[in-house]
Amino acid sequence: MTQRQYLVAGNWKMNGSLEANRTLVSGILAGLGQCAGVEVLVCPPAPYLAQVRELVEGSRIRLGGQNLADQQKAGAFTGEVHGAMLRELGCQYVLVGHSERRSLYGETDAVVAAKFKVAQALGLVPVLCLGETLDERDSNRTEAVLARQLGAVVEAAGIAAFAAGRAVIAYEPVWAIGTGRTASAEQAQSAHAYLRGQLAERDATIAGSTRILYGGSVKPDNAQELFAGADVDGGLIGGASLKCGDFLAICAGAQSQLK
Ligand code: 13P
Repeated sequence: MTQRQYLVAGNWKMNGSLEANRTLVSGILAGLGQCAGVEVLVCPPAPYLAQVRELVEGSRIRLGGQNLADQQKAGAFTGEVHGAMLRELGCQYVLVGHSERRSLYGETDAVVAAKFKVAQALGLVPVLCLGETLDERDSNRTEAVLARQLGAVVEAAGIAAFAAGRAVIAYEPVWAIGTGRTASAEQAQSAHAYLRGQLAERDATIAGSTRILYGGSVKPDNAQELFAGADVDGGLIGGASLKCGDFLAICAGAQSQLK
């Protein structure tokens, strides 16, 4: 028996428009009843946060940012978004260290750790994304990579930063993102158990309460099986989160697994 509530998060990435967002959110709102007991989060591109905030107002859909600046204070950082701005626009969560940020924008473990700390300092719950590349998996380095990526944040922020819902982890194997190639339920569960074990080595209570999401080509037809894993506490959904029916079906997949 676990106390961890399922969380299904839609990472819209760099997609959407005023009109598309309106249609998508109204569809999700209409179907929320299918996923009672599951926490539902959407992470639109920053320019649409104000719009989506209004659309979800009064509902139980939560709002998150996709990225934030690694700066404690606002100032001369052209093009960056400060965590306090995300808070002001109604965000409770923010993705940190998504593999696209790491691979396309050069975010190192140190930058990710800095963003994680800034997010918490500004009252946001960071969703720490990590995962191995195909090359790393094929050369049996998955666990070493996960230990390094998680360890960098735990060393910088302290294990207490993961206590009592203050942070979420998202395991996203890079080879499964946007490829249609999903980790098997066994591969996901094994990585999640490993990550939880890494936390447990520092603090068993914190390990037991930290939610670990799976991300990487989650679809309606594989969600239920993935979410059945004992250490899988929901999903971080890319492509399928842009389709209302698919996103709701994935949320319902989590609902059907309520442990
Ligand atoms: P896909 O669901 O499109 O594979 O994307 C996963 C992801 O990167 C979510 O953050």
